Amino acid sequence: MSENPKDMRREPWRASVLTLFPDAFPGVLEASIIGGAEKSGIWQLETVDIRDFSVNRHRTVDSPPAGGGPGMVLKPDVAAKAIDSVVTDTGRPLIYLTPRGKPLTQQRVRELASGEGLIAFCGRFEGLDERVIEGRQMEEVSIGDFVLAGGEVAAQVMIEACVRLLPGVLGDAQSASEESFEDGLLEYPLYTKPREFEGRAIPEVLLSGDHKKIEQWRRQQSEDITKARRPDMWTAYKNGDDHECD
Ligand code: ADE
Repeated sequence: MSENPKDMRREPWRASVLTLFPDAFPGVLEASIIGGAEKSGIWQLETVDIRDFSVNRHRTVDSPPAGGGPGMVLKPDVAAKAIDSVVTDTGRPLIYLTPRGKPLTQQRVRELASGEGLIAFCGRFEGLDERVIEGRQMEEVSIGDFVLAGGEVAAQVMIEACVRLLPGVLGDAQSASEESFEDGLLEYPLYTKPREFEGRAIPEVLLSGDHKKIEQWRRQQSEDITKARRPDMWTAYKNGDDHECD
């Protein structure tokens, strides 16, 4: 990296994804501002096909769980070889996407975005052999309390959340709105022209030009919505816990 503070060029933020379905990438990461940011060199995506590290001629990657039970387990030797082909430094966390992981939060996203990048391991089948998770000190992350068919979409969610925070990805206007969302409350309702749509009018206060009143109205809406939809966030907000939406 350049030592000149006036020179804004920096190393790209790097996402490496280990997956059995490399065709699922870049997926949504190619679209809009996120895709544009990759083209302009702000970040980089690399995919690694886990199956390339299978040692037998059938390219097998899974076997039945020890102790019995349904489904198949990703073999530790194959997974470990795939991981070791990518993990050449300690600068980037190795994240295993799994519904039993710690829930992803905006706080963790901010930390990941401020680092060098991340390495994402996408699970499939019933899961990955526990000894690889332990041995490679993988951070287990979930994107929500539901079960996907695999970690690919979850990895894209996590990467998109990080990339939009990288310097130069969002314009100034969008960055400001990001801040207002991060005060620990859900967003207030938005309206635009026309004044009336399908018999519904824009709330009068928003057309009043009284910025103080508008701010009060929006804050009240944010509080009411947060109370109703996210009692957990509301309690944290009331207690003055680290005012962040996470
Ligand atoms: N893989 C399957 N479901 C998942 C989830 N909810 N989060 C992360 N990875 C997953």
